[in-house]
Amino acid sequence: MSGTLTIDGKTIPFAEGQSVIEAARCAGIYIPHLCHRPGYAPHGSCKLCTVFVNGRKTSACTFPAAANQNVVSDTPELKQDRLRLTQMLFVEGNHFCPSCEKSGNCQLQGVAYHLRMLDNHYPHFYPQREVDASHPDILLDHNRCIFCNLCVRASRDKDGKNVFAIAGRGINKRLIVNSASGKLKDSAISVEDEATRVCPTGAILIKRSGYQLPIGQRLYDQHQISEVALSMQDDHEQ
Ligand code: SF4
Ligand code: FES
Repeated sequence: MSGTLTIDGKTIPFAEGQSVIEAARCAGIYIPHLCHRPGYAPHGSCKLCTVFVNGRKTSACTFPAAANQNVVSDTPELKQDRLRLTQMLFVEGNHFCPSCEKSGNCQLQGVAYHLRMLDNHYPHFYPQREVDASHPDILLDHNRCIFCNLCVRASRDKDGKNVFAIAGRGINKRLIVNSASGKLKDSAISVEDEATRVCPTGAILIKRSGYQLPIGQRLYDQHQISEVALSMQDDHEQ
């Protein structure tokens, strides 16, 4: 099935199997998101992509596009929701951008700039989670994890390794590593894995590659997040 739908009053085509966010992306319309990535199974955890479809709020990344849908994404209410959700992510972890190697290349920070976030609004949780520096090439800082599940999906679906999983509930939710010790050094991960490159924050970093690209020349220093997101390609389109 394919056809057209409208998003913020603009008529766009969609293809069989596309979600609302993917139909929008292919038509050059950016819907803010963190846990979605073209070519990956949808996850629906960050809720930044929430839009109205025929008057009902839903996640654009999990909702199938269908003929004659009326999608509304660009409203002050939805922008405010996205801002508050992003602020919640910032206080829930330790996102101290000035000391993070991912600053300027970080999607969470890029979305915050896009949403004109100026403060964190909520009190900080200051979690004291582990930093797993056991692997010779890869660093895992749990304090920056936003539980987007992208490393889980990358390791399972792209690398065929199942190195990561998300365990626990509520505020005790955590990313776990599939190895006898629970440490990255004893897992099957390698620096070539897709799972090492897909993290939207500074939670998974490749060692000894830090600060090679100077501040000012990093991805989101040079490009709007909307531009970067719209230029991403699905595996099927490459
Ligand atoms: S480590 Fe990164 S990719 Fe994995 S769940 Fe956390 S934020 Fe997402
Ligand atoms: S991008 Fe849709 S819920 Fe995260």
